[in-house]
Amino acid sequence: RSTCAAASSTHPLLRRRGYSSESAPERKVAVLGAAGGIGQPLALLMKLNPLVSSLSLYDIAGTPGVAADVSHINTRSEVVGYMGEDQLGKALEGCDLVIIPAGVPRKPGMTRDDLFNINAGIVKSLATAIAKYCPHALVNMISNPVNSTVPIAAEVFKKAGTYDEKKLFGVTMLDVVRAKTFYAGKAKVPVEGVNVPVVGGHAGITILPLFSQATPKANLSDEDIKALTKRTQDGGTEVVEAKAGKGSATLSMAYAGAIFADACLKGLNGVPDVIECSFVQSSITELPFFASKVKLGKNGVEEVLDLGPLSDYEKQGLESLMPELKSSIEKGIKFANQS
Ligand code: NAD
Ligand code: LMR
Repeated sequence: RSTCAAASSTHPLLRRRGYSSESAPERKVAVLGAAGGIGQPLALLMKLNPLVSSLSLYDIAGTPGVAADVSHINTRSEVVGYMGEDQLGKALEGCDLVIIPAGVPRKPGMTRDDLFNINAGIVKSLATAIAKYCPHALVNMISNPVNSTVPIAAEVFKKAGTYDEKKLFGVTMLDVVRAKTFYAGKAKVPVEGVNVPVVGGHAGITILPLFSQATPKANLSDEDIKALTKRTQDGGTEVVEAKAGKGSATLSMAYAGAIFADACLKGLNGVPDVIECSFVQSSITELPFFASKVKLGKNGVEEVLDLGPLSDYEKQGLESLMPELKSSIEKGIKFANQS
C-alpha cells in the first residue's frame, strides 16, 4: 500500500474548470482491475482529475507498484492500492464512483461475447462486493461484453436489494471517441468541435453511430457514411488485430473511461447540462438496456434522451441491431440468475 502527499493547490491541472482542491467536494473513486492494460493509464488519468480526492486502486495482483508509482504525482487525490479479495471491501468503502476495467481482453478472431465465460463471473463477484460495501456508488462498467455485463450487474444489485437504475452505466464512450475522430478526418473539420452520438450497444453492429446528427454538419456521401459507420463498429477489432495477440484497446479506452468518469463526477457535483452517451437501463426502445445520450446529475442518470431523428440508413441499422442486443442482454440476465 502507498499513500501520497497532499497536492499543491497551484498545480495547473487543479485549476481547470474553476475547481481547486479546496472547493471541489470530497470524492472517492475506485478502479477495479487497476493493474491492467486499461487500469494503469486510467489510474494515471484519474490521478490527474482534480474532482477526485481519494483514488482506490484494486486488482488481484500488481496494485502496490501501480499505486506507489501514481501516488508520487503531485495532484489532489490520496492514492491507496489494494490487492486480493480480502482487501476489496476496504477498496470500495465510501466510494462515490467505481470504474470496472477488470477481466480478460480479446485476441484476434474473438468476439466480445467470447469473453463472456470468464468476465461474467468476475463482474458478478465485483458487483456483489459493490452491493455490500458501496451500494450507493455510481458504477462505470468497462469489462466486456458490456451488452451482457451491465445486465449482470443490474441483476446482482436487484438480488441484493440495492439496484438503482440511475447509477449503473455501461461505458460506450470509446465508440463516441472513435466516431468523433473518424468523422473529423473524413469531414476535414477540427476534431475538438465534433460531436457524434453513438447509440445501441457496444459490440459489432450493435454500435450505431448517428452521423446524421453529427456536428459540425458536413456534406458526406452515403458511401462515406457507410464506411465511417463500419469503421466505428469495427474500431475495437482494428486495435485487436494491430496488437496481434497482445490485447485490445487500452490507451484510448483509458482516455474514454476518464472522460466518462469525469462527466459522472461533474454530474454528482451539480454541474448542469452534462450529457454523454452510455448503455443504461432505458425505455426509449423495447429493450431494457440501450445506449443513448444521457443527462448526468446529482443522482447519476437524470434523463435518458431519446434517439432524435434518424436517417433511413440509421433506421435500418437500428432494426438490425435489436435481435443481437436483446440476446446479449438476456444472456447476462440468465447468467446472473442461474448461478
Ligand atoms: P488486462 O488483461 O490488461 O487487464 C485486466 C485486469 O483485470 C488485470 O490486471 C487483471 O489482474 C484484472 N482482474 C482480473 N480478475 C479480476 C478481479 N476478479 N478483480 C479485479 N481485477 C481483476 O485487460 P484490459 O486490456 O485492461 O481490458 C480489460 C477489460 O476491458 C476487457 O474485458 C476488455 O474487453 C474491456 N474493454 C472494454 C472497452 C469498452 O469500450 N467498454 C474497451 C477496451 C477494453
Ligand atoms: C473496444 O471497443 O476497443 C473494446 O470493446 C475492446 C475490444 O475487444 O474490441
